[in-house]
Amino acid sequence: MFLQNAGRIGNVPKKKFLYSRKGPWPQPSPTEPLGTAPEVLHLPWQEVLDFQLHIGLRYMRDLFVCGPAALVKALGFRELPEIPDDALASALTRGLYSRFLAPLDPPDHAKFGLDPSDGALRYKIDFTPIARVDPYEGMYVAPTITLLRREGPTSPTFVVEAVAIGETELVLRPGDGASWELAKYFVLQGCSYGTLFTEHPNVHFPYDTINAITKGSIPTDHLLFQLLHPHLRFSLVLDNAVLQSPASVISEFRHTIYDPFTARASDGLMSFFIAGYKGIRDNAAYPGYRYADSIASLGLPPTDYGRFLESYFGPFHWLTQQVVGAMDDDEMSYCEEWARWIRVWIESFPELPYRHVDAAGKQRTREKLAFALAVMLWDVTVVHSTDHHDFATDIPVEWKCFRLRVPPPVARAGSAVDRGKLSRRIDLFKSHLAHRMFFAPTTVTKLIDTEYDFGTDALRAVHNEFIERLRRVDADLPSRGIKRFIPLGEIAASIQY
Ligand SMILES: [Fe+2]
Repeated sequence: MFLQNAGRIGNVPKKKFLYSRKGPWPQPSPTEPLGTAPEVLHLPWQEVLDFQLHIGLRYMRDLFVCGPAALVKALGFRELPEIPDDALASALTRGLYSRFLAPLDPPDHAKFGLDPSDGALRYKIDFTPIARVDPYEGMYVAPTITLLRREGPTSPTFVVEAVAIGETELVLRPGDGASWELAKYFVLQGCSYGTLFTEHPNVHFPYDTINAITKGSIPTDHLLFQLLHPHLRFSLVLDNAVLQSPASVISEFRHTIYDPFTARASDGLMSFFIAGYKGIRDNAAYPGYRYADSIASLGLPPTDYGRFLESYFGPFHWLTQQVVGAMDDDEMSYCEEWARWIRVWIESFPELPYRHVDAAGKQRTREKLAFALAVMLWDVTVVHSTDHHDFATDIPVEWKCFRLRVPPPVARAGSAVDRGKLSRRIDLFKSHLAHRMFFAPTTVTKLIDTEYDFGTDALRAVHNEFIERLRRVDADLPSRGIKRFIPLGEIAASIQY
C-alpha cells in the first residue's frame, strides 16, 4: 500500500515525491497568525528561480518601460472625473465590484430609515474596515456603507440611494449636493481597497496551503498531483513576495515608487485582510472565508459577473469527477491524508474519509473530493484571472481613488468639491504604474494550453473534452446574454499575478 510506505524509502522511493518529500508546507502567517490565511514561507529554490525568470524580470521590465508611460499619463492629470450617480451605480454592480453586494442587516434598516415591509429589493456595500487604516499625513480615508435598490431580482438596474460615511455614519443622499459628490470618491476608494485587501486575498492565499501540501505529500505519479500540478506554478513565490517581500506593492515605505496606497502595510491595511478572512460578526458583508462545498457557497454575486464565473464551474467539476473516478484505492487513501493535513490549516476544507468507510461512504468521499478540487482549479484560473481583468480594464485608474487628499464630508451642507485637489500627479503616477505592474493580467501559462501528465488514453481524452467544454462556455456566452468578462484564451493556468 502506498500509504503504509509514505515517508519511507521502500516501495515508494523518495524520488517519486517532488523535492524528495522535503517540499514547502504551510505555517501561521508571521504578520497576522490568528487573522489571515496560513502562509508558505520556506520556498524551494527551483520555484524561486522559476518565478524570478518569468515574473521577477517582467516586473523590472515594466518598471523601466511602463514607468515613463505612467509619468506621461500623470503629467496630463488635472483633476479626478465627475462621478455621475448612475455611473457609480453601474460601476458598483456591473462587474467585479458586484462581489461586494450584501443583504442588509437589521441595524442597516434603522441607519437608513427604511421600512423593511416596503417590498423593495435592497443591498449594501460595506467598506467599514477601512476605518482602521491610518493614512499618511494629508491623505484621508472614510468608512462607507452604500445603500442600493435593485429593480428586480435579476435586473441589471440598480440605484444608489444613500451612503453612510464616517465614524458618525452620516447618511448622505443624492440631493445632498457637494457632500454627496465628495462621498462618492470615498465609496470608490473603498472598492479599490476592498478588492485588493479583502476580496482578492481570499482568491489567492487559502490555496497556498493546498498548493504546498500537494507538493509536499503526494507522489508525482499520483492522479491528484498530475491534475493539480500545472495549476500550482508560480503561486507560492508570488504570494510570499506580496505578503513578505520588502519590495512588495504593499509596502512599508511610503516612497516605494510603485506603491499607490494611502498607508503603510502595518498602518491598518491588514484589517481588510482579517475582515475578509475571519469575517465580522453580525455583518452579512463579511461572512469570513469558508471553503465552498456547494454551488450556493461559492460566494457568487447575484449579477452577470456571478453568472459568468458560475458558467465555467461546470467544466471543472466534470474534469475533476472524471479524474477522481479514475483514482484507485491507494490514491484515494492518499487523498484522505492530504485532506487531513489541509484541514489542520483550513478547517472548512472537507473531510475525505475513505479507508474505513463502506462503499457508499467511499462514493460520497469521491464526490466531495471532486467538488473540492473543482473549487480550487476554478478559483485559481477563472476567478483569479477574471477579477484582475475586470479590475484593470473596466475601472479606470482615475476611479481607483487610492489616495484622496480632501477630508470626507462631516455634514450634509458642504462646500463645492475642487476635483483638482482630490489627488495629485504623484498619486496618479503610482496608480498607473501599479496598474501595469501588478493589477493588469500578465499571463505566463494559459489555462487553454494546460498539459497534464496523465498516463492513459482515457484521461487524455478527458482532458481534450474538458478543453472543448471550456470553449463551449466561452462561445455560448453571447447567446446566454452574459458579458464575456475575460476571453477564455486570456485565462491563466494558475495564480501568477
Ligand atoms: Fe492576484
